[in-house]
Amino acid sequence: MTLTEQLKETKEFLESKLAGCKPEVAVVVGSGLGGITQNIANTVLIPYAEIPHFPKPTVAGHAGQLVAGTLAGKKVVVLSGRFHLYEGRAVDEVTFPIHVVDALGIKLLIVTNAAGGINPQFKPGDLMMIEDHINFTGSNPLLGFGNGVKFLDLTQAYAPRLREKLDAAAEKLQIPIWRGVYLATTGPSYETPAEVKAFAWLGADAVGMSTVPEVIIARYHNLEVLGISVITNLAAGISSKRLSHEEVLTAGKAAEDKLARLLTEFIGAL
Ligand code: HPA
Repeated sequence: MTLTEQLKETKEFLESKLAGCKPEVAVVVGSGLGGITQNIANTVLIPYAEIPHFPKPTVAGHAGQLVAGTLAGKKVVVLSGRFHLYEGRAVDEVTFPIHVVDALGIKLLIVTNAAGGINPQFKPGDLMMIEDHINFTGSNPLLGFGNGVKFLDLTQAYAPRLREKLDAAAEKLQIPIWRGVYLATTGPSYETPAEVKAFAWLGADAVGMSTVPEVIIARYHNLEVLGISVITNLAAGISSKRLSHEEVLTAGKAAEDKLARLLTEFIGAL
């Protein structure tokens, strides 16, 4: 079955579940950052396992769900749980949900993630608006994709219009937010201190293991993209502390409420 045929079935299934609710905004939430779903009214929950052609959970991966409903007066879809290259997945699986977002006719995508802070000003728990990214995954989701080669422009991958609106929302709520460059690796190992030093030289402010393949596919579909990183830890070597996944999850949880309030304000003001 081709991707187009799969997407037709997925779209028909989701549209029947959403029963006339036409979402305008999609949000992809990173590990432990799903707090925003608690602000959604009239929710429809659809486990990923029920959605035709959605990637299947891996042993290490967490089951996810799609949460649709109304947030701050806007119809939204939250993809709670994402697929990662570090699970050993093909990039086509990682980006499948973004094709689905496009198939549903949604034009605006918000991506969030947990990231290690490289910029020495960053502290765990801080937020960073993604201004641009560096694809250090060694792959590109457009390789071999579609008919012919698409030389996609990524000059303004993260929409300046949305960045300004996020600044306004942050200002209104008095939530401090940095701006910076997100660099993506495949993981699953964290970086060495030497890599973090090199990434700082390359211009990265934060490092993580997601988002970039999804944003490339979103821009392929001409979706407007907003990206926010939650700085869950200082990247390797920035502090002498060892990195742990538990620390990342705990810091993410601590910032979850702040992120949810900010996104709710941002979406309400769209
Ligand atoms: N490195 C890579 N990915 C991450 C990190 C990190 O330090 N923290 C959270 N995700």
